[in-house]
Amino acid sequence: MPSTSSVNSERPAIGAPSRPPRVVVAGATGRLGGAFSRFALDQGWELHGAIVRPSSRALGRSLAELGIGASHVTTSSSERLEETLVGADMYVGAAPVEAERSLLPRVAAHGVPAVLAATGWTPDDVPWLEEIGRRIPFVLESNYSLGAEWLHRLLRDGPTLPAGFDVSVVEAHRIGKRDRPSGTSLALAAAAQDRIRGGRPTLEPVEAPTTVPIASIRGGELPGIHEIWIAGNHELLRVEHIVLDRTAFAWGMFQTAGALWQRLPNLAPGRYHPADLTVAGSP
Ligand SMILES: NC(=O)c1ccc[n+]([C@@H]2O[C@H](COP(=O)([O-])OP(=O)(O)OC[C@H]3O[C@@H](n4cnc5c(N)ncnc54)[C@H](OP(=O)(O)O)[C@@H]3O)[C@@H](O)[C@H]2O)c1
Repeated sequence: MPSTSSVNSERPAIGAPSRPPRVVVAGATGRLGGAFSRFALDQGWELHGAIVRPSSRALGRSLAELGIGASHVTTSSSERLEETLVGADMYVGAAPVEAERSLLPRVAAHGVPAVLAATGWTPDDVPWLEEIGRRIPFVLESNYSLGAEWLHRLLRDGPTLPAGFDVSVVEAHRIGKRDRPSGTSLALAAAAQDRIRGGRPTLEPVEAPTTVPIASIRGGELPGIHEIWIAGNHELLRVEHIVLDRTAFAWGMFQTAGALWQRLPNLAPGRYHPADLTVAGSP
């Protein structure tokens, strides 16, 4: 969960935080995108567009028809992204990573700021994501839940561990989750590694390999568990984060999108971490 951020007060205003943003949501019919869209509509945001696959059964149907609030926005094919973006203030990516590899460069070409949730990025994605960061401000975060964010900060900013303590990460998710280990566990492991005496910093634009061991479990409909094991010779410290409901991700993502919108007038292009955008101490 690193950032390549900088705030540039000389950048001309491109947002108008006195009104809610007009957002285009890719994956609005999915679990995360649907929950995000409901929060956005509840808070008076305008859903400007909803992107799905060209072959989607939801194509051309209104969000109201699909049970996502009372919005009359009809879903558009990803092939028509460019025209959907006209007049939009922000792009919210809640589609899988394979889709975002095609969508995000086109969003950046239109100069629309973005908040992305996809997981499963690889080191091959780093160079072009850096290029995106030269064009637009964007947030790419593998776990938008507020608790995971706090845990990450605890590991990143906490004191160095006593010598001889070993850190491991245990993560458990639903059986169908494709990326393994989870992006969150890689980011937590990288943050924890910095706390080990003699550890080296490993934070990279996309979650980097780490020497902290990660055990991955997949089963049932588990929504997401991350546990940090810190083992000494005669003692064990465990810190655990459990997502009780996937709404936690959508709520954190909505908070981040709101913070990005508020900060936009003074934000230079770059990749931001949610913590870069919020007031210190409030996730
Ligand atoms: N960062 C976080 O906190 C966080 C939290 C939860 C999930 N995620 C990640 O977010 C992504 C979505 O998760 P989910 O659970 O919401 O998945 P999901 O329920 O399967 O929803 C995926 C959505 O993407 C759409 N989609 C699929 N392919 C597309 C394409 N080529 N172009 C445009 N839209 C496309 C689908 O629409 P159609 O099928 O109708 O086309 C659907 O609306 C995954 O990568 C997941 O790992 C991240």
